[in-house]
Amino acid sequence: NRPYRIAVIPGDGIGQEVAPEGVRVLRRAAERFGLQLELTDIAWASCDYYLEHGTMMPADWKQQLAGMDAIFFGAVGWPAAVPDNVSLWGSLLKFRREFDQYVNLRPVRLFDGVPCPLAGRKPGDLDYLIVRENTEGEYTNLGGTMFAGTEREIVIQESVFSRHGTDRVLKYAFELAASRARRHLTVATKSNGIAISMPWWDSRADEMARAFPQVQVDKQHIDILAARFVLQPQRFDVVVASNLFGDILSDLGPATAGTIGLAPSANLNPERRFPSLFEPVHGSAPDIFGQNIANPIAMIWSGALLLDFLTAGQGAGRAAHDAIVGAIETVLREGPRTRDLGGTASTSELGAAVAALI
Ligand code: NAD
Ligand code: IPM
Ligand code: MN
Repeated sequence: NRPYRIAVIPGDGIGQEVAPEGVRVLRRAAERFGLQLELTDIAWASCDYYLEHGTMMPADWKQQLAGMDAIFFGAVGWPAAVPDNVSLWGSLLKFRREFDQYVNLRPVRLFDGVPCPLAGRKPGDLDYLIVRENTEGEYTNLGGTMFAGTEREIVIQESVFSRHGTDRVLKYAFELAASRARRHLTVATKSNGIAISMPWWDSRADEMARAFPQVQVDKQHIDILAARFVLQPQRFDVVVASNLFGDILSDLGPATAGTIGLAPSANLNPERRFPSLFEPVHGSAPDIFGQNIANPIAMIWSGALLLDFLTAGQGAGRAAHDAIVGAIETVLREGPRTRDLGGTASTSELGAAVAALI
């Protein structure tokens, strides 16, 4: 029974502050539930590394990571020193694409004790899962510029929607919805305005729906869907969206549940041919870096998702996941709280408080 091999990549900014708290809780849960973890700290995939080496990662990054069972990732980006497209296409977006992590699963939940910015909402009213396509769609480097620097300048940015890529993420979302009590799936679209890809996306969803008659499908244009995240959050159970729409929804949803500092994500290669990657939804937050005030719960919850995925939701891994989420629930209800939730506790105090409850 070999240990689970996990690469820890803190990255930039508050990634470096929340990652140690995620690791602290991961280690504590592993010890408590008898899981063997072998953690490898990785200093590359950061803007500091870029400034020294002129590249975000060493040439053999893929060999170094391919043997891992999972990647535990903080955040990347330091736009004052490195353009965001360079740092992100040189690291995180490469991981998602090269390791075929085509599902980005992002839970949204309102916790007891967390003030909700939506009037009159209580825990239970917001409890849904966003399934974001994670390898294609609007995120491409296809296109180009003509007549650069002149008044005739033209910029073209292509999208890519493959049948394989679309069907597999839809299938994942339908299966997930079918496994849940409500069996409800919202399909995000924009087939009125985006006249080629989105009507086709809808037709793929219609075809997939035939294989899942037990799932109730609610197709919504992304604009009104965003409005309903705010006005009728209880309407949502599982939401499937293209890469860009899923990106936007997965900041909006957590914001309506109090703070983006809680939101976790699992970048999954469900077939386990490559390592999956677990990270907070939020970024490197240069505006608060260095003060030890970032909320580490998004990172800690991502660690729980990691253990659950590695063990396929069985035995000790599921128990460790549930214990971490339980500890998060207690801390959010009783404190301490970080500044994004109106408190004064530090990042490390939060990590220690969660770990102490496991
Ligand atoms: P951001 O998520 O880093 O920050 C947005 C706002 O939320 C900021 O005011 C920040 O202080 C606050 N915030 C974020 N996380 C928080 C936490 N844990 N606790 C308390 N407050 C928190 O988004 P941004 O400002 O658009 O991006 C900053 C950098 O991060 C950019 O370089 C961007 O490209 C990058 N980024 C990286 C990732 C990633 O690595 N997955 C995700 C998003 C953004
Ligand atoms: C996220 C981030 C990334 C994305 C950025 C940093 C490229 O916003 O993980 O949500 O857009 O996917
Ligand atoms: Mn995002």
